Amino acid sequence: MNNLKILTYPDKTLNQATAPLDNIDGQVQEMIDGMANAMYEAPGIGLAAIQVGWDKSVLIYDISPREDGRELHVLINPKIVNQEGQVISENEGCLSVPDFRADVKRSEFLTVEGHDREGKPIRLDAEGILAIVLQHEIDHLNGTLFIERISSLKRQMYKRRMKKKLKQ
Ligand code: NI
Repeated sequence: MNNLKILTYPDKTLNQATAPLDNIDGQVQEMIDGMANAMYEAPGIGLAAIQVGWDKSVLIYDISPREDGRELHVLINPKIVNQEGQVISENEGCLSVPDFRADVKRSEFLTVEGHDREGKPIRLDAEGILAIVLQHEIDHLNGTLFIERISSLKRQMYKRRMKKKLKQ
């Protein structure tokens, strides 16, 4: 599956909350591989299943520096079990929100529980870029885009710009 398309705003699918995945079969592995291809091709450092129209609680990320090669991580049914502190995620962006970046308030520290692609339980303590990526992707799984977390003024600016663009 090499041709998964990344949906973009204002596609309503992106506002949909996802359901837990309860069976990790071959088809799921194929979808995850397809998501990885789409993410690397974009390129991006994180992708949630709903961004390719798959309404399951699955996210992937790879925050390894490019020179070090790829290091794909998969989180199935992730849940934030603890969050502390506050940081500004500067110039946050999203593959589903093209040509737009903004500062977003995020938690500084995060503990996430979930499963890997083999179904093995995972518990992650995250900070820095990893904490930001996880919050961003888990937001996606709840149907929330990062533009819902910025000032309404900035959000309206973006929405107006997109409306104009779509009319062209
Ligand atoms: Ni995103």
